[in-house]
Amino acid sequence: MARIIAGVGSSHVPAIGAALDNNRTEEPYWRRVFSGFEWSQKWMRELKPDVAIIVYNDHASAFSVEVIPTFALGCAAEFPPADEGWGPRPVPVVQGHPALAAHIAQSVILDEFDLTICNKMEVDHGMTVPMNLVFGKQDKDGEWPCPVIPLAVNVVMYPPPTGHRCFMLGKALKKAVESYPEDLRVVIFGTGGLSHQISGPRAGLINSKWDRNFLDNLSKDPVKLTKIPHLDYMREAGAEGIEMVMWLIMRGALGDNVEELYRFYTVPASNTAVGHIVLSARDGAAKGKARARDPFVGKRPAAASKLRRATRGAAAARQKVERIRS
Ligand code: DHB
Ligand code: FE
Repeated sequence: MARIIAGVGSSHVPAIGAALDNNRTEEPYWRRVFSGFEWSQKWMRELKPDVAIIVYNDHASAFSVEVIPTFALGCAAEFPPADEGWGPRPVPVVQGHPALAAHIAQSVILDEFDLTICNKMEVDHGMTVPMNLVFGKQDKDGEWPCPVIPLAVNVVMYPPPTGHRCFMLGKALKKAVESYPEDLRVVIFGTGGLSHQISGPRAGLINSKWDRNFLDNLSKDPVKLTKIPHLDYMREAGAEGIEMVMWLIMRGALGDNVEELYRFYTVPASNTAVGHIVLSARDGAAKGKARARDPFVGKRPAAASKLRRATRGAAAARQKVERIRS
């Protein structure tokens, strides 16, 4: 039986991809950003998931404004990086997991979430940047550490789905994964955000208080987050802050009880507040073989909290560059 064992939240700024691709990660500006993901890269290397479901948004790369699926599931065997205007990123082609993806499509659609099924799809920075941040830099001719099922969400054109709808879809994903017979350990990513606005009179808007509150409640009280209307996201977190609803799919898929293993927040990267969180699924369903094999769940809580304390201290020192505009 497959299990969702952990969730990752990560921003997906395209300039982060450019910094990686152009070997600029050691510059102080970028060092500040990348250092916040070192803990997670180590954690991910130890976790060795069998599959990742990555919830992200396409930025008119795979879909034009002519076709706008609200939720699109990647069921293909592979997903090449999209050309976003300066050629495809030099990252490996993402390998899919068509069997699990088809199973998820069936389960979720019969559960009344009408996904669009994509048997051919290119993926943009919305997906490849969080993959780099958490899986590390990968050679173009190399391979990513595990197969990925992309789940693209429309947060680009009005009307995007509500946070509540996203949370409920996450729950349906959990049910879908748990009804898959093979013993797979699955991680789920929620990507995008945090607060940012990239055009118009409020371009550059960042609201750290809102972001931190969102991260707090993602762990402690996600149901509260599901009640936030779109207008609040737009007003408080900027026009592109609406991307944050995607994190609620990830959170819904983890079940009621989670343990926050790690958090990082820094401002800015390009126009965006960079947020990152790692949560492990702690509810009853996550017990058993899959859970026992998770190095940070159950087995080594002391080591995990020591690492958390250490990284939080370092993060505090890095957070001097914050700017809050409204
Ligand atoms: C930026 C951030 C995004 O999330 C995005 O998709 C495009 C641009 C930015 O900060 O520039
Ligand atoms: Fe974006």
